[in-house]
Order: sequence, then structure tokens, then C-alpha cells
Amino acid sequence: MTASPLISVVIPTYKECLNIPLIAQAIRDCLSNVHFEIIFVDDDSQDGSAAAVEALQDNMPVSIIVRTGVRGLSTAVIEGIVNARGKYVVVMDADLSHPASAILDIIALLQSGNADFVIGSRYVDGGSFDENWGLFRLLNSKLATWLAMPLCHVKDPMSGFFAFERENMPPIHKLSPVGYKIGLEILVKGEFSQPSEVPIHFVDRQHGESKLDFKEQIRYLKHLRRLYQYKYTTLAEFIQFGIVGSTGFIVDTIVYFSLQFLFGLGHLNARALSFWPAVTWNWYFNRVVTFTNSDRKKKLKQWLSFSVTSLFGFAVNVGSYRLLTDFVPFFVEHKFMAFIVGVALGMGFNFMAARIFVFKPLEDEMIAEIDSQKRS
Ligand code: GDD
Ligand code: MN
Repeated sequence: MTASPLISVVIPTYKECLNIPLIAQAIRDCLSNVHFEIIFVDDDSQDGSAAAVEALQDNMPVSIIVRTGVRGLSTAVIEGIVNARGKYVVVMDADLSHPASAILDIIALLQSGNADFVIGSRYVDGGSFDENWGLFRLLNSKLATWLAMPLCHVKDPMSGFFAFERENMPPIHKLSPVGYKIGLEILVKGEFSQPSEVPIHFVDRQHGESKLDFKEQIRYLKHLRRLYQYKYTTLAEFIQFGIVGSTGFIVDTIVYFSLQFLFGLGHLNARALSFWPAVTWNWYFNRVVTFTNSDRKKKLKQWLSFSVTSLFGFAVNVGSYRLLTDFVPFFVEHKFMAFIVGVALGMGFNFMAARIFVFKPLEDEMIAEIDSQKRS
């Protein structure tokens, strides 16, 4: 085997046979003095892509991995990186949207030690994109970008043009590549501390068509939720738990009043009964929203243990209210403050009990977590 290259360029492709020779040529022109390799990862396009790569092999170090039976930009990129041999990996699109001329600047920035993850960016000074982006596409792209801001401090986290030192690739088992944004996934899970951006002009594709559709946007939202969960595990869960709890409070209130005014029940009975639809509501949405990475326990058993912990939580809430308003002079004066403290304590108790007893974290997430702690 020959010495390993300095740069591996990984290019996912799906039906890009016309673009393959063009992008390869553009890269070779820009990297003429550098030891590099190009790895195309194609999802069995059957449009002559493999032959197009073979035709180039006499002239330049290109290879193609053809995957069959799977499709997906993100997993293709991972596959390419796993097979790369270079010190640095650059990922870019095949459709000439990303200028090969930026690769050397990107690598120079990595080599300088001032950055450990570099993005070819449309949104930093000097970056741009083709004029004919409609308002909808622009707003859409901007909104998607803003939603990712708290996860990473870069202006173009959506970019499919990015590079890093291969040894900093996060372990594969940590990645959950839902959807298109593999750069963002690697940036967040690789825990890069010095991300940086190089301006590029993003050119709209000439040949073939984009594979980014509406379904991808929904998947992007799922992906974001997972990344938030990853980065701010407990905080993200606590916020979702709080949101679910507030909607449960609305259910509780509606049932409480309906039972009295529509069905003529006394207020104590109404209070005791309205607890159950509310607790069931909370259990269900915490199961499908807040704690998705938890043990898939039997529903009835889980509902029961959630109800029990909620009853305890309610006891903590009322009990602390009682104690405070009986014994602490400040709260004797300010009963509503005691009410707030009671609600907060009850909710804190509920959250911890739910996390520990009702929705236990998944085993493999624990292992991943332990791994990452060992690494740092
Ligand atoms: N192997 C493989 N499998 N490659 C794929 C697949 C797939 O299922 N889907 C797309 N690709 C390849 C395309 O052939 C192209 O080289 C690259 O991935 C990007 O696909 P496009 O379809 O051109 O995506 P886009 O132009 O809509 O989106 C680009 O810009 C976005 C930002 O505006 C991508 O770079 C996105 O990652 C980026 O977020
Ligand atoms: Mn494109």
C-alpha cells in the first residue's frame, strides 16, 4: 500500500454521473501539489457513475464505493470517512455547489491549529449563494440554521462542505444519522471545540436535481431534537417534561370543572377524579416525547409506576405548602409564594422519580455516555 494521503475527499453521490468527472477534475486542478484521494460513495445509482469513476482512475486517485440496498446521504458520508486514509477528511457535494478551490484554505486553517472543524460557509463575510434563491428557500434555510444555533457556534451548520482531522471522527456508535445534516451531527457529537468557517460562494447545481424534499425537513426537526437531547440531556428533558406537565394541567383543569358543572359532582370528588386523565395524559406524552431514549417497558406497568410517583409528587407539593405556611413566617405572610415553591418541589420530585424509576435510560446510551467520559 502506498503512503497515506494528506487529504481524503469524501463525496456522496446519487445519480450524479454527469457531475463526477467535473468535480473530480476541479479537485485535481486545485490539489495538484498535494497527496490526496477522492472517495465517491454511491447508492447504486445505476446511471453509469461507477464507470465514470473507473474512466478517471488512470489519471487520478479516485475510487467509488457502491452501496446496494441502502440509501441515505448521511450514512454514505460515514461509510466514506470509515474508508478514508488521509490525515484530513473533506466532505463535499458532487453537484459543483461547493467550490473545490476552497479546500486548500480549509486545510490550511485546520493545520494552523486555530480550528479543529472547518465549514465551507455561505453565511460568513465573503460567503454567498446564487441570486435566484426564492424568499421561501431563503427563509427556510435561515430558520433551519437558527434552530441549530444553540448546538454549535457557527453561522452555516447546515453546510454539506466541511473538514476535520480524521482521528477526531466521533465513534460510529455515537452517531444517529437521521436525515441530511451529517456535518452538524459530526460537529456536535465529535465535541469539537474550535469550529471555524471559510467563506464560499454556493453555486446552484447545473446537472441532475436536489434530493432534499419536504420529508427531509421533518426529519431535520427530529434530528435537532436528538441533538438537543444529546447536548443538553437533562435540561432538554426537563423542559419537555415541563411542557407536557403544563398541558396536563390544562387537562386537569378542564376535567375538574366539567365534572362539577356538567355532571354535578362535588369539588372533592372532581378533584380526585380529574387527577387520572391528567396523569394518563402526562404519562403518555412523556413516554412518546420527553423520554424517547428510555426502556420500552410494558405500557400498563409503566403507567402504574408513573401514577404512583405522581401521587408522591403531589404529596410533596401539598406537604411542602403545608409545612411552609405553618412554620415559616415569610410564607405565612406570602402564601402564594409557598404555593409556587410547592409546585416547583413537586415537579422536581416528579421529574427525578420519572427519570429514575419510570423511564430508565437505555443501556447502550449509558455505554456511549461512559465511553465519552473515558475519552475526555
Ligand atoms: N450516496 C448518497 N445517497 N448520496 C446522496 C443521497 C443518497 O441518498 N442523497 C443525496 N446525495 C448526494 C448528492 O448526489 C450530492 O452529491 C449531495 O449528496 C448533496 O445532495 P443534493 O441533493 O444536491 O442536496 P442539496 O443541494 O439539496 O443540499 C445541499 O445543501 C444543503 C444546504 O443548503 C447539501 O450539501 C446539504 O447537506 C446541505 O445542507
Ligand atoms: Mn445540491
